[in-house]
Amino acid sequence: MTDTSPHHLQIIIGSTRPVRAGETIARWVAQRATDHGGFSVELIDLRDVDLPLLDEPHQPSQGNYTHDHSRRWAERVAPGDAVIFVVPEYNHSYNAATKNALDYLYAEWRFKAVGIVCYGGGARGTRAAQHLKPVLAALKMVHAGDVAIGLAEAPVAEGVFSPTPMLTRSLDSLLDDIERWVPHLREIRASLPAHR
Ligand SMILES: Cc1cc2nc3c(=O)[nH]c(=O)nc-3n(C[C@H](O)[C@H](O)[C@H](O)COP(=O)(O)O)c2cc1C
Repeated sequence: MTDTSPHHLQIIIGSTRPVRAGETIARWVAQRATDHGGFSVELIDLRDVDLPLLDEPHQPSQGNYTHDHSRRWAERVAPGDAVIFVVPEYNHSYNAATKNALDYLYAEWRFKAVGIVCYGGGARGTRAAQHLKPVLAALKMVHAGDVAIGLAEAPVAEGVFSPTPMLTRSLDSLLDDIERWVPHLREIRASLPAHR
């Protein structure tokens, strides 16, 4: 039977810095996703999730998590249908907290639709997105698209993000594409064995 429950979209703030552009950008993504109407929206802040560097003795693909923080993270991610990673570009890649949060889990990411909202200087965070994509593919996530934000154009001022109309159109189109994927990926996830 087709699962028609609301599509649950998790928006993950990757930056954990005390003063960061990522939070206001992620709040815009969450507001737009709520206004879109196709999703129940959850904002997840990796700063609050507060995972240590991966300290599990087993490979995450075995699903045998031994620490409470890993089990809590797995339980948080599991109910999502789709994820948007809001990632900064650090040293021509994406940030370490995002990689660490991804590495903790396996089955909880598999066959979910994923979008990337990247941001940075001249390259608008695209080098972060390009490094993130093969990692998402390794986790069998299905990439639905990217939105790239150039901070040099000063869209974040005094902690507030002011998107251009083009960025808003680009995000809305990503949300539409995620929505298209979700029913198909739900069917696939329902048919999978619990782990590998
Ligand atoms: C460790 C570090 C490395 C950075 N490297 C780059 C970079 O390679 N390319 C770039 O465009 N911006 C780079 N920046 C600038 C960030 O894109 C900018 O500071 C952005 O606000 C970071 O996101 P956040 O404020 O949400 O942490 C770097 C910033 C930091 C903190």
